Amino acid sequence: MTTVIDVEGVSKQFKIHHERNQSLKERLLHPRSGSTEVFDALTDINFRVSTNETVGILGHNGSGKSTLLKCICGVLQPTSGEIRLRGNLAALLELGAGFQTELSGRDNVYLYGAMLGFSKKMVDAIFDDIVAFSEIEHFIDTQVKFYSSGMYVRLAFAVAVNVNPDILVVDEVLAVGDERFQAKCIDRIRTFQEEGRSILLVTHQADQVRALCDRAIVLDGGRMVANGPVQESLRIFREHLLEDAVELDRTGVQVDITIDSVTTPSGSFDVRSGAGMNFDVNITAHSAYSGYFMMEVFTRSGLLVSRSDAQGSPVNLMPGPNSVGVDLPQIPLLDGVYDVNVGIVDHHGTVIAWRERAASIQVTYNGREGGIVELGASIRQQ
Ligand SMILES: Nc1ncnc2c1ncn2[C@@H]1O[C@H](COP(=O)(O)OP(=O)(O)O)[C@@H](O)[C@H]1O
Ligand SMILES: [Mg+2]
Repeated sequence: MTTVIDVEGVSKQFKIHHERNQSLKERLLHPRSGSTEVFDALTDINFRVSTNETVGILGHNGSGKSTLLKCICGVLQPTSGEIRLRGNLAALLELGAGFQTELSGRDNVYLYGAMLGFSKKMVDAIFDDIVAFSEIEHFIDTQVKFYSSGMYVRLAFAVAVNVNPDILVVDEVLAVGDERFQAKCIDRIRTFQEEGRSILLVTHQADQVRALCDRAIVLDGGRMVANGPVQESLRIFREHLLEDAVELDRTGVQVDITIDSVTTPSGSFDVRSGAGMNFDVNITAHSAYSGYFMMEVFTRSGLLVSRSDAQGSPVNLMPGPNSVGVDLPQIPLLDGVYDVNVGIVDHHGTVIAWRERAASIQVTYNGREGGIVELGASIRQQ
């Protein structure tokens, strides 16, 4: 077995600049005042990954998992220490890290290929496989900013697994998308394992670590507190989770959260255009969690109608069943079926739990306007 990832004494500090509350005059007189705080996101991390090994990375939110993966992928430079890679690496980082949202899916595939040193011809050769795996043929020429989170992950995963990498790095994104697609990704990960490739997998699903990983690393406050057999690492992870859960910090604690269902008081999702509707999103949390509720609405043809602000609706989930109420006071949509995706994200916008097509709203409209939205225009001749 050969070492393909060698992480040696890696530390990463972020400098956080705090502006002092100043008057405009003070700011003009002392433009550089305020304080700079150094934050240790990673401290002295050491581990190796060999060929044919799948290593899980566990840790609470904010423990440094994404920072570590970004250092390994070269997106971030460690403050000290060294990372050596053998072979080529493909990464599926957090949502938002990776694609240029102004460009189409197609352009992003070519751009990502170019970043990995693929010529246009080489990308041409795998392009159809990528699109077929992603199942988003119809939207490949749509700008990525109109993609649902699920579509985004589908394309990113399809690219990562089709560029023939020796090392695959996956950050917590497999929770996005429907169960069928998740299963397909996991199948592909298993094929990778059979082919002797190496995989680094960040996930908050203990089951996935048990099912896929040969070994697991646990991070806590930027330090590596375990690196060993899966069972033992899971136990250590739980212990750290319990210690910290007592003082549930602002960043929240890594938890298993499941979106069980979306229900309406009447049991019906039929609504007249212009009328209001309430529904409840039923969520089971295995421990307390502070995050944000997020919602997307799509037409059946896959056009994004609306995506809520990722940080707009804070929710505090308690252990056990929870219900988040959504009130749509006046639905301006015209005739059609609209699919609703719902999820919980953390303060970075990373998806913690997600459910695509959690509900489908059937809108009936008996006016004469065409399209998807009632503008209510009044026209007068001048
Ligand atoms: N660019 C950045 N600037 C300042 N702080 C950051 C930056 N990126 C991450 N951090 C901080 O570093 C810590 C680790 O973050 P991250 O690696 O995203 O954790 P995880 O993926 O385990 O949730 C967090 O406290 C986060 O707020
Ligand atoms: Mg992360």
